[in-house]
Formats: sequence, C-alpha cells, structure tokens
Amino acid sequence: MTDTIQRVRKAVFPVAGLGTRFLPATKSMPKEMLTVVDKPLIQYAVEEALEAGIEQIIFVTGRGKAALEDHFDISYELEMTMRERGKSLAAIENIRQKPGSPVYVRQQEPLGLGHAVWCAREIVGDEPFAVLLPDELMVGSPNFLAQMVAAYSRVGGNVVGALEVPDSETDKYGIISPGRVDGRLTEVTGLVEKPKGKAPSNLMIPGRYILQPEVMRVLDNPVRGAGGEIQLTDAMAQLIGRQPFHGYTFNGARYDCGDKAGYIQANLALALARDDIGPAVRDFARGLLNDVGRG
Ligand code: UTP
Repeated sequence: MTDTIQRVRKAVFPVAGLGTRFLPATKSMPKEMLTVVDKPLIQYAVEEALEAGIEQIIFVTGRGKAALEDHFDISYELEMTMRERGKSLAAIENIRQKPGSPVYVRQQEPLGLGHAVWCAREIVGDEPFAVLLPDELMVGSPNFLAQMVAAYSRVGGNVVGALEVPDSETDKYGIISPGRVDGRLTEVTGLVEKPKGKAPSNLMIPGRYILQPEVMRVLDNPVRGAGGEIQLTDAMAQLIGRQPFHGYTFNGARYDCGDKAGYIQANLALALARDDIGPAVRDFARGLLNDVGRG
C-alpha cells in the first residue's frame, strides 16, 4: 500500500463564506482576516499548510474578499516607506508568496463548503489535496496538518481531523461514525452533517481534511444537505468503503474563531503565550478576574 500513497502537495482554503455569525465585523471585511493578536486567521492557516509541506495554495474566494489577496501580495507603499524610515520588515516579509502563487478561484454563490471545494477542482486535478478552514485555529507542534500528513503517509486514502465535543454540540458539526481505533487514528465507517437527534458519536471534524480527488467526482453531482447547502461531509461519505477513510485526533489546541467566544479565547490564549505581551495581559486578566470575583 505504502508505495501507492501520493504526496499531498496542494491545499484548498475555502474563504467565500458570508461569516454571518460574526456580524457586524464581517459586513465588509472577510472573516478570515480577523486577527488573533496580530495575525489574520488566514495567515495562521497558510503557515500551517506550508510548514506541513504544502507547495500550492488555492484560495476559493468570493465577492468582498480582496483584502485576502492583498494580504499575500507586495504592499508597495508600506514597504518602501518602512525601508526609507529604517524600520524592520520582519513582520511582513515572509507573508508574500512566490510570483504566480497562490491561485485564486471564485465561488460565485456561497452554496456550501462542498461546493466551495468543488470550485477548486481544475487546479487540484487528479491528486490528493488538503482542505483547511481558516476560522478553525489549531495550535500544536508539529502543527495539525503536519500530524495528519504523517498519519496519511502510513494509511493513505482520506484522513480528516477528529475532535471530541460535548453531546450538546454534535448538531453543529460533521460527525464521524467510528470504527476501529489505532492510537490517534479512528476508522471512519460513516459521516453525518449536523445530525438531528442522536449523533453516532461525539467526534466532530474540525476543519482539516486530506482528501482523494474522487471527492470532486462525487461533487460533480451535488446534493443539497443540511441547511440546504452542498455539504462536503455528504460527498466524503460517498467515499467510505471505496477508499481508506480515517479520523485523526489532534495533539494540540483548537479554537473555533468563527464563533465569538472561541475567537476571544484564541486571542487570550495566544496573547498569554507570547513573551512580549504575555506578562501585561496576564496581569490585566488576573485583575479583571479578581474584580469579577469580588463583584
Ligand atoms: P462556515 O459555515 O464556518 O462559514 O464555513 P460561514 O458560512 O462564512 O460563516 P457563518 O456560519 O455564516 O458565520 C466554513 C468555511 O467554509 C467557507 C467559509 O468561508 C469558511 O472558511 N465557505 C463556506 C465557503 O467558502 N463557501 C461556502 O459556500 C460556505
């Protein structure tokens, strides 16, 4: 099996959603440009992919997402002025990508995650690819996608992230029906998006996927699923039994930055972990909690 496992070179970043849970912040600004401390969510996800060995970045964008494209381009006036003033460009010089890269494709209407991924089909071609949802911020070492790529190199097929959530939250996510468990890998025997009633487990898929190109052929004939959207979960479910399919449990922290509470938690956790601002934030947070305790 091992010698037939193709390397994952490409990653798709679906960023064409409307971000309605984060209004009004996302009315004219892409959700993926929300910053955690001093970096936009999209940059965390792109850095995760590059560190995991991804060579080709593919953004699925939509109207109103130009700020994302600009973020990965040269910022001519800014850079020139900073140079003239003798300021360090360290914070921005690694962001710019190779000329001609990344690739941007448009999803004209936000019809769902499955449809967004399908919009990248011509660029993905006939090889395995990763999908990263930038509003899920993953912190770990090695990073989440790197851990998944390592697991994939052993089992091949499709590998999706797997994370336990409380029973009360299973109706918000794509949920795994688990089979055999081997360390951090769980065989996937079924998938259901936002299950109503009893969920098959409380293992959800937290925004990281390594998929075989056959999922694009399933998405050629889309079916509207939960919420009337074309769901990636439904398309992936068609591959179970035809190809190896595993969930990988991440060794690290996950912050759901598409949700306001998760976003604040991410900012707090990452700020506290920083040498430069951590001590000041820690003192402030302690004081705040003491005040709340007294109040
Ligand atoms: P979400 O459902 O979390 O994003 O989709 P959303 O629709 O933008 O947010 P809410 O629920 O309205 O607040 C997960 C990811 O998939 C992308 C989103 O941009 C996000 O990164 N997505 C979703 C698309 O690119 N196209 C779609 O049609 C739907």
